[in-house]
Amino acid sequence: MALCHTLAEFTEEPGRITRLFLTPPVRDVHALLRERMEQMGMSVNVDAAGNLRGVWTPVGSTARRLLIGSHIDTVPNAGAFDGVLGVALALECVELARTLQVPFAVEVLAFSEEEGVRFGVPFLGSRAVAGRFDSALLACRDSEGATAESALRAFGLDPAQIPAAAASEEAIGFLEFHIEQGPVLEAENLSVAVVDGIAGQSRLTFEFAGQANHAGTTPMALRRDALTAAAEWIAAVEAHAKDVRGLVATVGAIAVEPNAGNVVPGLARLSLDVRHADDAVRHTAVSGLTAQAKAIAARRSLTVTSAVSLDQPAVALDAHLSALLCRAVEDCGMPGKRMYSGAGHDAMILAARMPAAMLFLRSPGGISHNPAEAVDVEDVAAALPAARAFLQCLAEDNHLQG
Ligand code: GLV
Ligand code: MN
Ligand code: MN
Repeated sequence: MALCHTLAEFTEEPGRITRLFLTPPVRDVHALLRERMEQMGMSVNVDAAGNLRGVWTPVGSTARRLLIGSHIDTVPNAGAFDGVLGVALALECVELARTLQVPFAVEVLAFSEEEGVRFGVPFLGSRAVAGRFDSALLACRDSEGATAESALRAFGLDPAQIPAAAASEEAIGFLEFHIEQGPVLEAENLSVAVVDGIAGQSRLTFEFAGQANHAGTTPMALRRDALTAAAEWIAAVEAHAKDVRGLVATVGAIAVEPNAGNVVPGLARLSLDVRHADDAVRHTAVSGLTAQAKAIAARRSLTVTSAVSLDQPAVALDAHLSALLCRAVEDCGMPGKRMYSGAGHDAMILAARMPAAMLFLRSPGGISHNPAEAVDVEDVAAALPAARAFLQCLAEDNHLQG
């Protein structure tokens, strides 16, 4: 927890935690983590997607390797634990692995990008490790107009080397610790839960285009106001999501042009984030909301365009690895609670490459993506013996050792 608070000081905005993909404070995070890893006898490198990776190898060396990690980027005005706690616990796992003398190497991954804030596309770090980094992503632009490719190069990385960042498919698996970011464990008075699966997500941008005009001279009936059209649609998004069981839909970002108090808005650009456990339900919702945007725009003599930046299917985590993790939790005297994740995680990307499992830690107040995000020391203290028991189970597991 102290490490999380220390890393929280590396931010783009003094007084707030904001650390987007490959921005200057990421160098400070890397420097501190690298120092820790090297002190722990790990060999450290930064791959071409900006992931910091440290490998601890047991005496006698082995080709078998367990990957453990999470992300070090944040949303704007974030809390101190989303992602970072998973990296801190991964480092603790190295100490546990050393003590237990496990017969496999442990690679700690501090993924460069999971949130999708800077380039509108999430999982840039884990996609590379999963061998699924589509080079078309390099052309994505941030709010300043810089491409992902130029951001990588400015950080001293060579995008052509991204394919080499892919993990060996021979890896034993991937383990991620993460705060729950919701209220379930608190409501059930539990410290931890094993994650069964992760909801699929769609991310899109919509652009309503009308006509910028004078706020004093343009009669209400003759306006083509892009922002009021967007506002009508945002309310429709909320109403639709409330109508469909399990569906969540969010318009979380909006930009208006020319963004002046005495000008009828000519352009409104919005994000849409849609999630559901069932991909068919999610796809139907996205089609319906897109049709609704078109109908609203047509009725108001506007145009609307949309672009999909993410269509990530729901993922089931590995049954065998999750069962071992559940057994480890129970061996530590805690209920083997299992639950579903509405948040996206690097584990859902790694799951396409190797067995992946996740352990959630209770989120006090169920708050995340907010500076009030927290974690209780008792829950971290409960996760550590579970991690130890899991490493021990894994060390003794014939299924994975074979
Ligand atoms: C990642 O935090 C997400 O948006 O689920
Ligand atoms: Mn996260
Ligand atoms: Mn997050």
